[in-house]
Amino acid sequence: MSDLTSKLETCVAAIRARAPGFSPKLGVVLGSGLGEFADSLERAVTIDYASLPDFPRSSVHGHAGRLVLGYRGQTPIVAMQGRVHFYEGYAPWQVGFPTRVLGRLGVTHLTVTNAAGGINTSFHVGDLMVITDHLNLTGYNPLVGPNDDTLGPRFPDMSHAYSPERVKQLETVAFDEAIALRKGVYVGLSGPSYETPAEIRMLRTLGADAVGMSTVPEVIVAAHMGLEVTGISCITNLAAGIGQHQLSHDEVSQTADLVKGTFSRLLGRFLDTVART
Ligand code: HPA
Repeated sequence: MSDLTSKLETCVAAIRARAPGFSPKLGVVLGSGLGEFADSLERAVTIDYASLPDFPRSSVHGHAGRLVLGYRGQTPIVAMQGRVHFYEGYAPWQVGFPTRVLGRLGVTHLTVTNAAGGINTSFHVGDLMVITDHLNLTGYNPLVGPNDDTLGPRFPDMSHAYSPERVKQLETVAFDEAIALRKGVYVGLSGPSYETPAEIRMLRTLGADAVGMSTVPEVIVAAHMGLEVTGISCITNLAAGIGQHQLSHDEVSQTADLVKGTFSRLLGRFLDTVART
């Protein structure tokens, strides 16, 4: 057994000990300011990341750092309230570790959410965007290092990393709920500095619609493990050089706070659909 697999087994065993018999097929990663959705889960067991062996802890304001295992109706769901990022200083394998834990818990569909800056000039602050694809410009890859073939292949295919069928389903759910939903490509950078206006012009030319500092490592690890993924960005601000004012984490948090009700409704209805199909 590889070192990584043995760490995973230990961590998964610790989770199972806290929530015996809980066997979620759906996982959710809740980004900056979007953690509230997990509070709507019923009969929930909450586990601090800090109490789980090898589980990296989030140091970012707005990321609670808790695993919530609970039900939406009859559907067991595991939600991560907060995540870690490369810029916090974690090694690539550590950034990928929580996704692997969800996979080993039995999750087959992962919904990843994030706060992102809008690059597409038709986007507005507060828009929600379904991610169709990403650009990995983090400079890292969470799969660097020895490959554990029991977890996935050395060279995983990324052609359908964001399930095209689920993109369509999410669009249908949004339409039915009368929630406007944008669609586009997410570019992941390492951060922690925000981009310069010149970088944003470059990223637009490269085909990106939204920019952020997360999600990409999780989706690569999920693809490696064969999980189906859906991504949702909350456009919390216009990217550098588009708006007139300075970018700040406060603006990101404030917008996420305004949108969280609509966001939670969309996510909840979408998960209901995924649970059925
Ligand atoms: N850039 C990078 N990451 C972000 C942004 C941004 O403008 N907004 C929220 N996360």
